Amino acid sequence: MNIVTMASRKGGAGKSTLTAHLAAFSQQAGHRCVVIDADPQGSLTLWHSLRADGKPPLRSAARGVDRALATAMVEGYEWAFIDTAASMWVVALEAIRAATFVLIPARPGFFDLNAVRETVATARERNKPYAVVLNAAPVKREDKEAPAVGQSRAFFDSLGIPVWSGQISQRAGYVLTLAAGASVGEVAPESLASSEIARLWSAVQRSVAAIHEARPGTAVTRGQAA
Ligand SMILES: Nc1ncnc2c1ncn2[C@@H]1O[C@H](COP(=O)(O)OP(=O)(O)OP(=O)(O)O)[C@@H](O)[C@H]1O
Ligand SMILES: [Mg+2]
Repeated sequence: MNIVTMASRKGGAGKSTLTAHLAAFSQQAGHRCVVIDADPQGSLTLWHSLRADGKPPLRSAARGVDRALATAMVEGYEWAFIDTAASMWVVALEAIRAATFVLIPARPGFFDLNAVRETVATARERNKPYAVVLNAAPVKREDKEAPAVGQSRAFFDSLGIPVWSGQISQRAGYVLTLAAGASVGEVAPESLASSEIARLWSAVQRSVAAIHEARPGTAVTRGQAA
């Protein structure tokens, strides 16, 4: 099972938002997914409670992330997406330890970027592959990134921190769809928001495929095998 952990010690970076949209997108694409809410705040659980079909299924991490993952693995899921809390770092550490790949959402802003360094250090110490995702970025104009995004990339480059080449923009659609128990991929598959999530999902799949290649013997995803 491929485990994608969304982590950031910065509150409001977009962990729950990206977990929900990414997991829903992956589910929609036909993958067997499970979402794990490892944040007692319960944002992901709230979203899930509003979903008509209850998919992807939700597992609570109230009795531990490892236990939730063990059950999901036995149940034969292909992907697990874990939302973690900014504050409950002990639980987030468990989710990072278990991860195949750690995604670190960050808003392009000075304080936000600095806060990422601590989360990155945690992933590095545990030898976990990770990447930063710029979230809630100003929308591109004429296909050009906003200066704040360019500045963020330069900051991460200078520290040797890998950053996804795309961006998730600040869009009302990300919020409104979740409030209705849905996702941008389901409500507006042709939208710019949906295409951003599609690109992020492709990047996650590529990264996980590369991780498995570098570590033979680990699970192969359906996306790779196709
Ligand atoms: N790309 C985006 N466009 C518009 N609004 C966004 C975007 N990403 C996040 N938000 C909004 O920003 C707020 C924080 O997002 P979210 O709850 O996903 O962050 P979080 O990292 O999970 O926060 P916490 O650390 O409190 O769990 C929410 O109100 C969410 O709707
Ligand atoms: Mg959250």
